Amino acid sequence: MTYVPSPKRYETMPYRRCGNSGLQLPAVSLGLWHNFGCDTPHDTKRALCQTAFDHGITHFDLANNYGPPAGSAEEAFGEILKTDFQNYRDELIISSKAGYLMWPGPYGEMGSRKYLIASCDQSLKRMGLDYVDIFYSHRFDPETPLEETMGALDQIVRSGKALYAGISSYNSEKTKEAVAILKALGTPCLIHQPSYNILNRWVETDGLKDTLKDLGVGSIAFTPLAQGLLTDKYLNGIPEGSRMTQGKTLSEGQLPEETLTAIGALNEIASRRNQTLAQMAIAWVLRNEGITTALIGASKPSQIVDCAGAAENLTFTDDELADIDRVAGDSNINLWAASSGSDNAPPKD
Ligand SMILES: NC(=O)c1ccc[n+]([C@@H]2O[C@H](COP(=O)([O-])OP(=O)(O)OC[C@H]3O[C@@H](n4cnc5c(N)ncnc54)[C@H](OP(=O)(O)O)[C@@H]3O)[C@@H](O)[C@H]2O)c1
Repeated sequence: MTYVPSPKRYETMPYRRCGNSGLQLPAVSLGLWHNFGCDTPHDTKRALCQTAFDHGITHFDLANNYGPPAGSAEEAFGEILKTDFQNYRDELIISSKAGYLMWPGPYGEMGSRKYLIASCDQSLKRMGLDYVDIFYSHRFDPETPLEETMGALDQIVRSGKALYAGISSYNSEKTKEAVAILKALGTPCLIHQPSYNILNRWVETDGLKDTLKDLGVGSIAFTPLAQGLLTDKYLNGIPEGSRMTQGKTLSEGQLPEETLTAIGALNEIASRRNQTLAQMAIAWVLRNEGITTALIGASKPSQIVDCAGAAENLTFTDDELADIDRVAGDSNINLWAASSGSDNAPPKD
């Protein structure tokens, strides 16, 4: 059936300026890390993308390795671009990344010019695109000169294969270096993509959040819902079909008793704000405008509708923020800590 986007799609979603750039991003963006591989029916993927666009979510985030298998999320999105979004390319911000293992041998991961340029070409082919809007270095590579990795991003932008450059998971110190190199090359760093949520606050303790503000670089916080922990999903046990039952990136070990207690208390605070916990978790990430957009994932269209509703109330009283800090804090669930700085050694075996 031909998809016709909702004529009301721009009525409720706020768009926020990405750092000092000319680009505005929706307060909520959709990532295709999970639920866009060959293990999910194509109709579900279409419904997720259509629901997002209908609710003003104009930004879709991908990476070379999203699947499974790696590459299949970009292929699926390429199909959806053809069937549903062909007439709307200029209303969309599409991103991709390279950094994690994509193909065998020494040129299939990390931060070399060889890998980034080849990977960008492959991503464009899989999605059937002439260009992506944002291309990222997906993680810091301690064994490649930063000048080479940033030089590759600059080359990708200059060759017209991406409009903007971004970095992901780099810590504050490496971010300052990367942003300075890109500036000198004449391709400003548009955006940083770090993990960030109520249970994972490394961007605050590392100083990254302040660094990005000082440098005028925008930011897109991934896993704002802590992969689903910051929703009402796990309050009464582990539901069948949830990410925790899939044995991929979320395990029962990430939900000890104290985290479960914290989630219950957060759920009560959210109810007092007339929000779902997912909505409050997204609003918390977006508070004070320190973060440009919250990058969610979803397995059902109804989750996207719920998350988009966060935009209705993005402000907190000091008492609410203090209540949140009293019941929950950093819970040691940052799976991407090793991708941030010098200790990000590539696997040796
Ligand atoms: N740069 C990087 O290194 C990196 C790393 C990871 C992710 N990312 C990006 O960030 C995106 C989001 O990551 P994520 O999927 O982990 O984000 P998330 O938003 O923290 O978690 C998404 C999961 O939460 C659950 N959920 C979402 N909305 C819900 C709602 N309203 N009510 C109840 N449950 C809800 C769903 O779980 P169920 O599936 O169980 O239903 C969904 O799959 C990725 O797609 C990717 O684009 C980037």
